[in-house]
Amino acid sequence: MGDLTLKGAKILVTGGAGFIGSELVCQLATAGASVTVVDNLVNGKRENLKEIIGNQVNLEVTDIRDFSAMEKFLDGVDVIYHLACLGVRHSIHNPKENHEVNASATLQLLELSRNLKVGRFVYVSTSEVYGTARNTPMTEQHPTMPHTVYGGSKLAGECYARAFFDTYEYDTVIVRPFNAYGPRSHHEGDSGEVIPKFMLRAMAGQPMVVFGNGKQTRDFTFVGDTARGIFLAGLSEKALGQTINLGQGKEITIHDLADKIRDVTDNADAEIIFDEPRPGDVLRLFADSTKARDLLGFTPEVNLEEGLEKLCKWYGSLEQDPKTLLEKEVRHNWRMNGS
Ligand SMILES: NC(=O)c1ccc[n+]([C@@H]2O[C@H](COP(=O)([O-])OP(=O)(O)OC[C@H]3O[C@@H](n4cnc5c(N)ncnc54)[C@H](O)[C@@H]3O)[C@@H](O)[C@H]2O)c1
Repeated sequence: MGDLTLKGAKILVTGGAGFIGSELVCQLATAGASVTVVDNLVNGKRENLKEIIGNQVNLEVTDIRDFSAMEKFLDGVDVIYHLACLGVRHSIHNPKENHEVNASATLQLLELSRNLKVGRFVYVSTSEVYGTARNTPMTEQHPTMPHTVYGGSKLAGECYARAFFDTYEYDTVIVRPFNAYGPRSHHEGDSGEVIPKFMLRAMAGQPMVVFGNGKQTRDFTFVGDTARGIFLAGLSEKALGQTINLGQGKEITIHDLADKIRDVTDNADAEIIFDEPRPGDVLRLFADSTKARDLLGFTPEVNLEEGLEKLCKWYGSLEQDPKTLLEKEVRHNWRMNGS
């Protein structure tokens, strides 16, 4: 299969009602594809798709572990983008289910997709497969030593996708996004992420809680850029059989991030407090996305300051009190017992 165009293409996106998935679905629909989203809404939301659901986009509320339902949805599909998964904090209190969804279900989907002759399988992995950076910036050759069951189960999914390419000559692509942020990101429950949690807390006049000493670094990418990289991975002939980082290429400490959020929310007095470190926390991530640039023509367009401004405006547009939104936040969303 060569380079694809999307006009009229039939695409399936697992996890498409989630944070990154909904942005990807929007970009696919805008490019003229007809998109089926499969999502069991455990963390995704119907409202994430409300502006695009209709003729070109339909939502099937189904668990990806339901093999016979997936068989029906995959029939005649040109490209599957596989994003559905359970996250890093879920893996701390429920490692077995995390593995079932992230690893075992990926293997099942690969098998089904190959049998049904789905043209291409884009596996959305994560920078968490690396563990803490040993050398930077991190290329795709960096050792994969994940700290958590989440990182391990996502790496297993990668290995299966690569095996299908090597063993069966089935067209798979693996992308490894680094931390994404932006509109529709999670502040709530065990999916809650640092940027939305910090921002809502600063907006609500509550302290931003740093777990550990705040010297951990991340490479944050705006969700529109992350989704565009994933989108491109489904189109490029050169991407087939490849593993490709998707990151901004800039690292920032969590403490400096909190400072930036003070500025963006215009709240110089917002307090930063420290709490116990998160188990399994990765200490350093910093992407080298040269391969994404060379193979996909990917370059991030939104820098961190602009992206934080966009997110702040988006929260403003919701017309909901940040304190009300924070009612669903769980401060320690990585406890062993899930509390
Ligand atoms: N958010 C990030 O910073 C980030 C960074 C790197 C990689 N990723 C990867 O990107 C993908 C999307 O992440 P996200 O941040 O949008 O997370 P998300 O939780 O918003 O999206 C995942 C979606 O999968 C759905 N889902 C979970 N289990 C399911 C099941 N059994 N059947 C059907 N649907 C199921 C959820 O309801 C959710 O909508 C994931 O594969 C993740 O590993 C995310």
